[in-house]
Amino acid sequence: MSDTHYQSLGMSSALEKQQKQSRRSKWIVVGSVIALVVLIAVGVTVGVVVSNNNKEKSGSSSGSSGSSNGSSGSSSGSSGGSSSNDPTGTIKDIQILSQLTSRIRLYGADCNQTALVLEAIKQTKVDMQVFIGNYVVDGDPGAYERQREVIKEAIETYGTEHIAGVTVGNEFMLNYVTGRNSNDANSAIGNEGAAILKANIEDTKKMIADMNLDKTIPVGNSDAGSYFNTQIMETMDYGLSNVHAWFANTTAEGASKWVTDFFDETNVKPAALLPNNPKMYIAETGWPTDSKDISNKNNGAADASVPNLQVFLDTFVCQANSAGIGYFYFEDIKYGGVEGHWGLFTKDRKLKDVTIPDCAAP
Ligand SMILES: *[C@@H]1O[C@H](CO)[C@@H](O)[C@H](O)[C@H]1NC(C)=O
Ligand SMILES: *[C@@H]1O[C@H](CO)[C@@H](O)[C@H](O)[C@H]1NC(C)=O
Ligand SMILES: *[C@@H]1O[C@H](CO)[C@@H](O)[C@H](O)[C@H]1NC(C)=O
Repeated sequence: MSDTHYQSLGMSSALEKQQKQSRRSKWIVVGSVIALVVLIAVGVTVGVVVSNNNKEKSGSSSGSSGSSNGSSGSSSGSSGGSSSNDPTGTIKDIQILSQLTSRIRLYGADCNQTALVLEAIKQTKVDMQVFIGNYVVDGDPGAYERQREVIKEAIETYGTEHIAGVTVGNEFMLNYVTGRNSNDANSAIGNEGAAILKANIEDTKKMIADMNLDKTIPVGNSDAGSYFNTQIMETMDYGLSNVHAWFANTTAEGASKWVTDFFDETNVKPAALLPNNPKMYIAETGWPTDSKDISNKNNGAADASVPNLQVFLDTFVCQANSAGIGYFYFEDIKYGGVEGHWGLFTKDRKLKDVTIPDCAAP
């Protein structure tokens, strides 16, 4: 709203763009959690999704905060789908996560993670809802279609009970417009990209409607906080928005307020003005605890550190819970800098040296 606010916004986006461009292989990691229903959100990596470039091999997920074994194709995620059938790692992740949250989200469907996660929930009988993901790739309609079929199959196999929604597109608009030298998701260029994504969202809605399921599964979209296109918002049932105070160089103490204000101004209020009033969630937030390289360990105002994560948890979790804000923690091992250090857990599935605030969720 204020100039400062937009400035922060712009800075954040510029940084995100910069990061994206350095991520040649576009790895997506299955993230984590939400906390409408549970005390807190978590950041364990539940799996790794295939790159949009099938030539490139996925590395292993070693270094992720969760899945070393069998967690949705933790290592062999090349060429769209080869993945581990061993659900052991995923089961462990789901067991841990279920103690902290009842919702997780997936970023894509190319590594069998939809089935692995739903299978793990089935076996562990935990109370968990999953936002399934279809990672839409600019210039590769086949990627969307392939994942749609996998998702359809998973719904047929596992039913709707544990599915909270199907998220079509992750940072598609961010990538689309910044890849074409724009930073406005509602520009003419933005609307051009939105037409592609909108068709995919509508197609998924139709697929779900045609399945005659026992309940309606909402179809949503996920993007960087300031890159939601209005036509997309009018089409989606819900939106998952990435909101990172770290990239706006706030202090750890100021991060919670920044996140809440940004989310409210940039996402919640605009959504409420639309006839379909899509439900908005914070798709990624948190505070990193370390960096791969020393130069990125500081955002200008605060360090990536465990004590600062604690500050963020102490100031964010309870107030977000009481305000009814749904949010997810996440972690992303594929990118440099702080990206692999957002989680609440270490790679051997131990809680970092933090205390989870104990406050009731709405
Ligand atoms: C991963 O699986 C291998 C082979 O099944 C096993 O030896 C190893 O201990 C497992 N590692 C973890 C972290 O579960
Ligand atoms: C996907 O995961 C499910 C659940 O573990 C398993 O039954 C199935 O065989 C897997 N499919 C592939 C292609 O890995
Ligand atoms: C944030 O701080 C870093 C490190 O000091 C600096 O390089 C970067 O330009 C700052 N970014 C913004 C958006 O102020």
